[in-house]
Amino acid sequence: MRVCVVGGAGYVGLVTGVGLALLGHEVMCVDVNSTRVEELENGNSPIQEEGLEPVLAELLQRGKIRFTTSIETGIEQAEIVFIAVATPSLPDGGTDSSHAVTVARDLARLIHRYTVVAVKSTMPVETLDQLDSVLKERLIPGKQFDLVSNPEFLREGRGLRDFFRPDRIVVGSDSEPAFSVMRQVYQPLIDGSAELPEAFRTDTPIPYLETTPSTAQMIKYASNAFLATRISFINEIAGLCQRLNADVGAVVEGLGLDPRIGKAYLQPGIGFGGPCLEKDLTALVRLAQDNNYDPVLLDSVLQRNHLQLIEVQNKLINGMGPSPVGKTVAVLGLAFKEGTNDVRNSLALRLMKDLADSGATVHGHDPLAIPEAEEQFQDATYFENVYEALAGVDAAVVLNSVAEYRDLDLERVAATMKDGLLVDVRGVLNSGDVLSHGLRYDSIG
Ligand code: UDX
Repeated sequence: MRVCVVGGAGYVGLVTGVGLALLGHEVMCVDVNSTRVEELENGNSPIQEEGLEPVLAELLQRGKIRFTTSIETGIEQAEIVFIAVATPSLPDGGTDSSHAVTVARDLARLIHRYTVVAVKSTMPVETLDQLDSVLKERLIPGKQFDLVSNPEFLREGRGLRDFFRPDRIVVGSDSEPAFSVMRQVYQPLIDGSAELPEAFRTDTPIPYLETTPSTAQMIKYASNAFLATRISFINEIAGLCQRLNADVGAVVEGLGLDPRIGKAYLQPGIGFGGPCLEKDLTALVRLAQDNNYDPVLLDSVLQRNHLQLIEVQNKLINGMGPSPVGKTVAVLGLAFKEGTNDVRNSLALRLMKDLADSGATVHGHDPLAIPEAEEQFQDATYFENVYEALAGVDAAVVLNSVAEYRDLDLERVAATMKDGLLVDVRGVLNSGDVLSHGLRYDSIG
């Protein structure tokens, strides 16, 4: 099929475009970011995604994927248009749908044959209705277009794997012809006929759900809300474990043995950051309030996340002595999670800002995300070398579990840190080893 992906140079759009092209479709990715479009045309991915660049190079060479800044060019031949533009939070927690509305206006002007418009971006169903109205101003529903909700469940860093081996595909629509087009789009994945690299193949059948647009969007919101709930739950249990002298790692083992619970997604830490979980949960809380329903549980999931950041901050500040003024802290791990260079809504950056505001000097280190962090937060000194970041600091906090931190040479760390407090948020270090090197150790749980 001929497919257009609007927002095709962003995280979701690019993975979707590359994924669809590997399924055998002809893909045009449209994006307003001309720098990214240019990079992608040359086969360079601006985002860190496992396995993406080699696949992209091959698809470009075979002419299966193209990148453009022109929406006119992008949709000229398209039978289906995916909308994968950003839907950021408004100051009141609602969803800023302005980018999607602009795309819908362009589509209303440009569509000239029956086209399925499939929304990948997460948005409340009222926003889907708004897009529908914009399209209907110029087009005949069911004849020239049908709007579909097709939420993404991609984890950054392993997006392609999630695209090809999804836990489910969800399609929400009110139109049988649109369902039929969507089935054709995903058919090579569902029947296993697509020729995929080994790492992306699966023998497990992929559940394919067809439902209404509002249910499809709610499946997406509920999934992210549930994931966020698990994180806040385990962070609260970790705080209790630490106060009651229990070991949260062993608690997760014990909890996870109950198959109704499982142990996935129960890793304590600084809380959930990144572009999705907090934004989507905040939007869901807002939706509940707008509909006169009190979201007590979801609200407290957000509150625990906020308190978790303060918990980490307090460990550092209290551990350094009566006042953070004049002290130096190294923050190790700046991306919102390991394996990416994405600092959008990174709690590491919020922590750095809070520490700097309280009078501390801040050092930052990350294996991938220093340029991105520097762009967002200038009140810190960044180091490419982790031992240079640790030189002369009063405390350091390890926020993720990359091998570089797991395998820290503690002798070197002890020699370089002035007064060595290590706050090991992900539990990647052996506390006994840290203490035996004359360093102080603290963790979550
Ligand atoms: C998430 C969802 O997993 C994905 O299905 C959805 O489509 C988009 O949002 P992503 O934002 O890429 O994906 O990151 P994820 O790996 O889920 O992590 C989100 C945050 O939670 C990170 O800050 C991570 O460090 C944190 N986290 C995750 C924990 O603190 N503990 C965990 O056990 C898992």
